[in-house]
Amino acid sequence: MANVIIMGAQWGDEGKGKIVDLLTEQADAVVRFQGGHNAGHTLVVDGKKYVLHLIPSGIIRGKKCFIGNGVVLDPTALIDEMQEMANLGVSITGAGFKISALTHLIMPYHRELDIAREKRKGKGKIGTTGRGIGPTYEDKMARRGIRLSDLYNRQVFEAKLQENLAYHNFMLENFYNAATFTLESIRDDYLRMADTLAPFVDDVGTLLADAMDAGQAILFEGAQGTMLDVDHGTYPYVTSSSVVAGGACSGSGVGPTHIDYVLGVTKAYTTRVGSGPFPTELTDAIGKHLYTVGHEVGASTGRPRRCGWFDAVVLRHAVRANGITGLALTKLDVLDGLKTIKICVAYQRNGRRMETMPADPSIMDVCEPIFEEMPGWSEPTVGIERFEDLPQNARDYIQRLESLTGVPADILSTGPDRVQTILRRNPFSHTR
Ligand code: IMP
Repeated sequence: MANVIIMGAQWGDEGKGKIVDLLTEQADAVVRFQGGHNAGHTLVVDGKKYVLHLIPSGIIRGKKCFIGNGVVLDPTALIDEMQEMANLGVSITGAGFKISALTHLIMPYHRELDIAREKRKGKGKIGTTGRGIGPTYEDKMARRGIRLSDLYNRQVFEAKLQENLAYHNFMLENFYNAATFTLESIRDDYLRMADTLAPFVDDVGTLLADAMDAGQAILFEGAQGTMLDVDHGTYPYVTSSSVVAGGACSGSGVGPTHIDYVLGVTKAYTTRVGSGPFPTELTDAIGKHLYTVGHEVGASTGRPRRCGWFDAVVLRHAVRANGITGLALTKLDVLDGLKTIKICVAYQRNGRRMETMPADPSIMDVCEPIFEEMPGWSEPTVGIERFEDLPQNARDYIQRLESLTGVPADILSTGPDRVQTILRRNPFSHTR
């Protein structure tokens, strides 16, 4: 059976949740491998809406679900989400949900640091979700982080917490002029939550190896998007994890030779939340059309998303950095009714044409997009299930995107429900 990575090819919010849900049917297990509850995946299943931040979407279909070592885990957020799912009738225990003992914990001081840093940056802020993601990854890399497994050795946990508090309280008080924390207030809460999470803590890397040995198919569910990757995105306006396909391997303990197909999810236009360069951004009536018709509001923070035309430079970058096999093109129907549609085919700077993304995003900020214009279509594409039934201009648009990115659009999404999909090539049937 094939193992498939699904990841965002833009700045996140590409509609990965729906695509993951669609392909979950063919998977035996679904794995989250990076990020934390900064992500928000919205799913509509049988008319019922589910918003997930940490638990892999496969939970709704009763699949085995894993949180890999590359995730940063806020236990409060996870327990709340588990309760929410239970309230919606989704069984967590029955699905064989497991969390890697190696995941790093988001602590209350990480959230405080995240917010205090953004405040200090003022206008130059990154526009983080304020969930403590960045500071937690910093502690991980600094080798002082607290992992889930530490909660089950009280002495180790207390010693690490003490050491971390000494350092972070000093910074919070003296550098950021922000609130500090006592050991007792954090310790007792976290030890209580450790009891709740204990049945789910396991060695995820080994469980995945066993599943693959048994011939099971694994779906790796990416969060955020390539342009938010800490190395390959618009640094420093990025998140702090390895969002790209390679992150699926390091973030779950699975070697790259086990991956058969990488699906890059992209909208038929572009959006981004937070600050940072965005060459094709539209602040006119068309931007408003994309925002309104596309309901472009963040699932995690409720923030409005910035909207713009499709950027083929960004997509070519994503194809290269992830080794994308095929694309899932979402929200095509949002373009219905537009007279003309523009595609950014390259950038221009000082009269020079650039086909690839500049490594320095401050250069990206002053790049002019070179647009190609195509006629739009007036017929609605919502819910169309066969490629042949799409308006000719919509088919031409898709084919142009394929030729500009160099990869096939294997999946087309024409609405939020899973049936509103055109499956042209099944990633799980793909063999290398
Ligand atoms: P952080 O991940 O909270 O540190 O935020 C860093 C940047 O990533 C900000 O620009 C956020 O808006 C963006 N970001 C984080 N998670 C998501 C997501 O799930 N969708 C879109 N943008 C995100």
